[in-house]
Amino acid sequence: MKQFISVNDVNDINALAAKALAYKANPLVDARLGANKRIGLLFLNPSLRTRLSTQIAAKNLGMEAIVFNVDKEGWALEFEEGAIMSGNTVEHIKDAGPILGQYFDILCIRTFPSLKNREDDYSEMFINQFIKYAGVPVVSLESATLHPLQSLTDIVTIKEQLLATPLNKKPKIVLTWAPHIKPLPQCVANSFAQWVNAWSEAEFVITHPQDYELAEQFTKGATITHDQDAALKDADFVYVKNWSTYSDYGKVYENDPGWMLTEEKLKATNNARVMHCLPVRRNVELSDEVLDSPHSLVTKQAGNRVWAAQAVLSELLKA
Ligand code: CP
Repeated sequence: MKQFISVNDVNDINALAAKALAYKANPLVDARLGANKRIGLLFLNPSLRTRLSTQIAAKNLGMEAIVFNVDKEGWALEFEEGAIMSGNTVEHIKDAGPILGQYFDILCIRTFPSLKNREDDYSEMFINQFIKYAGVPVVSLESATLHPLQSLTDIVTIKEQLLATPLNKKPKIVLTWAPHIKPLPQCVANSFAQWVNAWSEAEFVITHPQDYELAEQFTKGATITHDQDAALKDADFVYVKNWSTYSDYGKVYENDPGWMLTEEKLKATNNARVMHCLPVRRNVELSDEVLDSPHSLVTKQAGNRVWAAQAVLSELLKA
């Protein structure tokens, strides 16, 4: 593996997920693999799970991890080629990138979308500029359109459940839109759809209100419906996530609390396990009764972030 930006960087999803679960069983088995290597974790946006789980994963592999909150502590970076830097940006990625590449063996970046200009966001300019100028392997800690470490974790978590309680059929996985008060990126939903489609070991259904279609490049292969009740029928896993509109980009068209998942709605499922990447707005996106019930996998899911990150870093170190 040369970089970890999307599922397209992974040769074998099952093998990578198995590696993550092996690290969960034996976290320090490769404790010297990253000795004398340094990993930089650059955050242009906030994080709890991604930041801490990747640091722990790096430490388990013997690497030194340095966190840099670029948004709060760094110079304002310019990403546009040929920019006349007479505005607020202070340092061009063309200058900062090669320096970061000298300081670190692996560079990890979190950079959210603007949600203002779809073309810019979906070109993934920021992370692509880091890749272009750093010259070392780059890992996405969530980019403008995707969140691959989260999605690998999600597959790991589903596989872990299936290993513990096997089904005699392909699992039915439902990605359902949920209400939220703010416009959120499409990254987690795009990425989950991309990974589940690439994994191709599930019946995959996406349900959302009208006008909340995600980009087809990620959803192609899934069944898409506006009927949440129909989607939930016989579901084995329900992944709950809000996203803002893609077509009329970055808008909140809908905030109907009727889309929030409840215990009542879960009665139509096959005793489904409920997933969410966190952070979650309780009783807006997901009800207390579901989050605090045995249906909820959210804490296990967040715990698995360490093992997914460790599997990815290990692959990069061995490349
Ligand atoms: N799920 C996730 O990426 O969490 P953080 O934003 O806290 O890192």
